[in-house]
Amino acid sequence: MSQLLLGQTLSFTGNPWQQPAEEAVQHIRHGAVLIEDGKIIAVGDADTLKAAHPQAKTTNHGDGLIMAGFVDSHAHFSQTAIIASWGKRLIDWLNTYTFPEESRFIDPAYAAAVANTYLDLNLANGITTACAFCTIHPESVDAYFEASQKRGLRMLGGKVMMDRNAPDNLRDTAQSGYDQSKALLQKWHGLDRLSYTITPRFAPTSTPDQLAATGALWAEHPDTLMQTHLSEQHEELAWVKDLFPDQPDYLAVYEHFGLLGPGAVMGHSIYLNDREWEAIRDAGASIAHCPTSNTFIGSGLFNATHSHALGIPTGLATDVGGGSSFSMLRTMASAYEIGQLRGDALHPARLLYMATQGSAEALHIGHKVGNLVAGREADIIVLDLASTPVITQRVARANTLWEALFPTIMLGDDRAISSIYIAGEPHILA
Ligand code: GUN
Ligand code: ZN
Repeated sequence: MSQLLLGQTLSFTGNPWQQPAEEAVQHIRHGAVLIEDGKIIAVGDADTLKAAHPQAKTTNHGDGLIMAGFVDSHAHFSQTAIIASWGKRLIDWLNTYTFPEESRFIDPAYAAAVANTYLDLNLANGITTACAFCTIHPESVDAYFEASQKRGLRMLGGKVMMDRNAPDNLRDTAQSGYDQSKALLQKWHGLDRLSYTITPRFAPTSTPDQLAATGALWAEHPDTLMQTHLSEQHEELAWVKDLFPDQPDYLAVYEHFGLLGPGAVMGHSIYLNDREWEAIRDAGASIAHCPTSNTFIGSGLFNATHSHALGIPTGLATDVGGGSSFSMLRTMASAYEIGQLRGDALHPARLLYMATQGSAEALHIGHKVGNLVAGREADIIVLDLASTPVITQRVARANTLWEALFPTIMLGDDRAISSIYIAGEPHILA
């Protein structure tokens, strides 16, 4: 049966980073979205679509802004319970908070409980797709994909591989990391809306043997993505230099082991040299921008403008729980503030693009989700542009769509997400 959602609609007709931002957006004040069999069939004028489809089940979202669900291009579901842990920079933060928490995921019941909490928090914040790091435990990957499958979500993720510089109970080996990842990939990749992602944590926690085995695994499964961390914090860069003295820079470590190519998603990528920027572009790899994490852990200011100018697919990411929020609105606000600190005021269309289509492109699913256009899967959110008293009084002054949207980007949170559809089905928030 077909259904019609009525409200304001927002769709991208192009990439606002590659052209004047507002010209890349179609906004229909009295719009409608026609959905059939979990897919978007049409987006257009409400009266026209109503007249053409009188039998469709209609839901009126009033002044709500109907748009594609948010896509989180890099997160750690296993860090849900330690979000907002105080006072440490990256390496101490990993050792003090993250590794002890991740060691709990050997227990399948704990892993399942956190996976459910994580997905419910994502959905409350309008995130309909994410690409997540699990832990080294295969149980964590099963829990993550089972919970995602139960909700009908398009989700990506994989087992973290680490065989050094981590506690004993959080290390696999080059062989077991390869074997377990391969088995999980064969179990989950392509099942329903799920995609397995090959996941070496980062260069310092893998031996050369493990990185080589990971490169071999990826070469055997080139239709999967490979995600890792790159160039996030100065101490980490110095550590990589120490561990891999023969490599000219951080990215070269991954390149050496066959871990740079189309389908590589590099988290953070703050301190790249010119060679690294160009190598990422030339390889067709992607970057996940993690602004709340980069400020919370004290990492630095990613250059989103340069990344886009080079044409690198660049997604937005919460990086939960190094990131300090599940809200993609808060994450966009943080990206805006980082832009300001760099001297670039990022247009709200560019922020929204990064949070939806940009992330989807970075994850190679831009033809499936990320935009409110015909043919895409109907993962849809409705934003209330007057969700709190401070936003309501600010938006009363708005004369344009962008003036109406920017207060929600800067001041909004889960209260601004008024409805969610997963593959066309209304989702009841937990
Ligand atoms: N680098 C290696 N592991 C991690 C992690 O879990 N979070 C962040 N932010 N950076 C990392
Ligand atoms: Zn991360």
